[in-house]
Amino acid sequence: MPALREALDQAGYTYDGVAELLGETAHTALSRNETVPGLRRTRGGSPVETLTRLFLLQTPVTGAEAEQALPGLVDRLCNEGLLEQSIGEVAARMDIRPYATDDQDLWVVSDLTPGLDGAPNKVGSDHVLGISSAATSLAQLTLREPVGRALDLGTGCGVQALHLAQHSQQVVATDINRRALWMTELNAQLNGVRPGQIDVREGSFFEPVRGETFDLIATNPPFVISPATDERLVYRDSGLPGDRVVEDIVRAAPTLLNPGGWCQILANWVIPAGGDWADRLEGWITDCDAWVVQREVIDPAGYVELWLKDAGVQGTADYVRRYDTWLEWFEKQGIAGVGFGWINLRRTDATATLRLEEWPYDVEQPIAPSIGAWGEAVDASRGLTDTELLAARPVLRPDVQQETFGAPGAEDPATVVLRQQRGMRRAQDLDTAMAAFAGACDGELTVQQTLTAIATLLEVDPAALVAEKLPAVSGLIADGFLELG
Ligand SMILES: C[S@@+](CC[C@H](N)C(=O)[O-])C[C@H]1O[C@@H](n2cnc3c(N)ncnc32)[C@H](O)[C@@H]1O
Repeated sequence: MPALREALDQAGYTYDGVAELLGETAHTALSRNETVPGLRRTRGGSPVETLTRLFLLQTPVTGAEAEQALPGLVDRLCNEGLLEQSIGEVAARMDIRPYATDDQDLWVVSDLTPGLDGAPNKVGSDHVLGISSAATSLAQLTLREPVGRALDLGTGCGVQALHLAQHSQQVVATDINRRALWMTELNAQLNGVRPGQIDVREGSFFEPVRGETFDLIATNPPFVISPATDERLVYRDSGLPGDRVVEDIVRAAPTLLNPGGWCQILANWVIPAGGDWADRLEGWITDCDAWVVQREVIDPAGYVELWLKDAGVQGTADYVRRYDTWLEWFEKQGIAGVGFGWINLRRTDATATLRLEEWPYDVEQPIAPSIGAWGEAVDASRGLTDTELLAARPVLRPDVQQETFGAPGAEDPATVVLRQQRGMRRAQDLDTAMAAFAGACDGELTVQQTLTAIATLLEVDPAALVAEKLPAVSGLIADGFLELG
């Protein structure tokens, strides 16, 4: 693996190297599983072109080209099952994909990406996913503060474990799929992770970590909600009914976490007909602060189409029957839709703060710093009495901008909106008094002093204004517009 890493590095086969080689059009086309623009850009025979054709565009190269790009390694990689040779040609049997974190070039081995150039999307039941958009979403959600012990539950090719290894003393990576664990080991070696730092364990869900606790759990579990009547694709189907896999992880979190530890889950959940998704999820949460964000809702038909396409069933003779069976099952289960989103849990012994919300809008990525800031805001305002809040000296977050709207030429704006430029990018309509209050929050004056000064300016009763506006002040703190020192 070190020799392979050196060859990939020497060739310039890095995320940036490949992006530059392909150019924007071919790179974007490849993200849509189209290879032709990329093939047209990689005809020169240089090592980076050869590696790109071999592993990303899944095109055989000549033996001489392969030998030049991977000196002395071709036979060994064939023995390991990463390449295969025929007379004069070498082809990839696995995907080796350049990947970049903030400060490191990484490579991730996984099964070959199915469905290039419109080919059937068919994969085996033990297929190991590469870097999917879900994997990237979770990586961007995961807090990156240094921790002692981290858990990647359902590690797949180990991409989350590689991230976690950069800021955790010890990572436990579990999976039920042996091939996935083999790839995680391979990826740890390929990326020079300290031997033993990623402890790879085979087993179902919590079974391999029974009795152990962690400071951070990052998991992208097999969350697809299906009738489980067809062949199980282990990378997405848990074999458990409905959204039980997510419920089980949420319910188990307090026993798996050290005090103050976080569990971050990328998930799908059921939206019950005539019920409330947030009430359902709230019922699963104990002994944890929780921030749950529903990013998207899909109706049953859209959901079924998405996952039948993912399994390569669309266009086959079985499509209509399976579509109908799945929809029928949704109907019988009383499932009105499926929510996609993030579940962030932090173990606490104090009275927990729960926030469950829909936020389908664009957010800054990585979003992890906002999750951490939310945790800090919860700590700062936990159990805060009105008297303590009045004595606090909040500061307006530096990225917050004011937008005013109104008729052209009007003396005063009809609407004032505060908008965060970063993080969740929330916006909040404010009246004149609260806009003045937010603008004055520079950490010098207390809430009481600022509201009293505004009451004087507006010629209203200070006590009445304080009483009226205090909930709005709390709201601005909870939504991250104001920070308590
Ligand atoms: C959606 S993939 C996530 C892979 C990777 N962590 C990522 O972020 O891309 C879910 C993973 O969970 C694994 N898995 C499925 N059933 C499992 C079980 N019962 N226990 C542990 N892992 C399981 C699958 O093999 C797969 O690797």
